[in-house]
Amino acid sequence: MIPRDEIVSWLRETDPSRLDSLWSVADDVRRIHVGDSIHLRGIINFSNNCVRRCTYCGINADNRGLRRYRMSTTEIMECVRSFEELSLMTVVLQSGEDRLVTRSWVAELVDRIRQETGLAVTLSLGERQEEELSEWRAAGAERYLLKIETSNRLLYESMQPDRRNAWTSRMEVLRTLRSLDYEVGTGIMVGIPGQTHEMLADDLVHFGEFGPDMIGIGPYIPHPATSLPSVPHDRTDQVPNDLVTTLNVLALARMICPDANIPATTALLSIGRRRDLKVGLSGGANVIMPDLTPPEYRQLYDIYPTRLSPGQGDLLPIQEAIASMGRSISEDSGTSLHYLKCREAEGGIPAGSIRHLQELTE
Ligand code: 5AD
Repeated sequence: MIPRDEIVSWLRETDPSRLDSLWSVADDVRRIHVGDSIHLRGIINFSNNCVRRCTYCGINADNRGLRRYRMSTTEIMECVRSFEELSLMTVVLQSGEDRLVTRSWVAELVDRIRQETGLAVTLSLGERQEEELSEWRAAGAERYLLKIETSNRLLYESMQPDRRNAWTSRMEVLRTLRSLDYEVGTGIMVGIPGQTHEMLADDLVHFGEFGPDMIGIGPYIPHPATSLPSVPHDRTDQVPNDLVTTLNVLALARMICPDANIPATTALLSIGRRRDLKVGLSGGANVIMPDLTPPEYRQLYDIYPTRLSPGQGDLLPIQEAIASMGRSISEDSGTSLHYLKCREAEGGIPAGSIRHLQELTE
């Protein structure tokens, strides 16, 4: 584990040649541990209804100006069927914390996807009850994303004004997910107002201790319809929400959690240019998550203002970018190597299957 003060000084680094060397080491770690292939995850943002009041997020319950939608099972299945011809192996079903997205509805949907397609299912439905998570796992959902957003309890709770112990509750759900044998994804936002470099270093130490199977890292992007302000520039040690800082956190996360699946996130691409997809993939990332939400709903999933997002129904630019880097798109569903190693250590999967998996990706 890299010492904390070393992490802090890397996070403050601005010298371009030193940054290049950091990203290049992260790229080597990525290659050695998870190989050259890139996993594509098609996201369907199927409901923008949300009961939560997170002050950073544009779909929070207080935003009355947003038209709300919830896709039907038929619409979702139609979208999922298009994955096959796009050679996608994983669907990410994502929504706000929508109380009408019920335990049985999700279980039936997951079951249908598993029966009718060969896709792996990742859920990203917010903080839910253990009984729900357990039933969805049994129905065939293997992965769950729930970002901790920041490991700093006070900072997190300052963005959840109406909830007590909000950070602890979220961590509890993350632990429950692990106990239910999900592949667990967490992550953070970079450049939250009030976030210092020390806090960001703590986030990376937190990853090292928690041992996530997946880590999503994106910049905080202010949304005009939320109460959380823009990032202050006058405060000393405020982390900027810029591309370089986000890429540094990504590179350090790869070094600290070498076997995790780490995407070049949509938020990262939203503040960059198209070529920054390649930049993320050359600095530690091994996953891309194209947004395959049907066009009539895409703009309504307005968590933050986006300029660019990968995919938008057209995977060609992604395929070209990957090919031009001499890398390839994975042909398997891309189970996290971290998850497999933990299960192997516990005797859950046959010894040797990881080596086999690594050979496959070589
Ligand atoms: N800027 C960046 N990321 C955001 N998210 C929500 N709001 C914002 C924002 N304003 C991210 C959070 C959340 C995920 C759904 O989107 O990390 O977990």
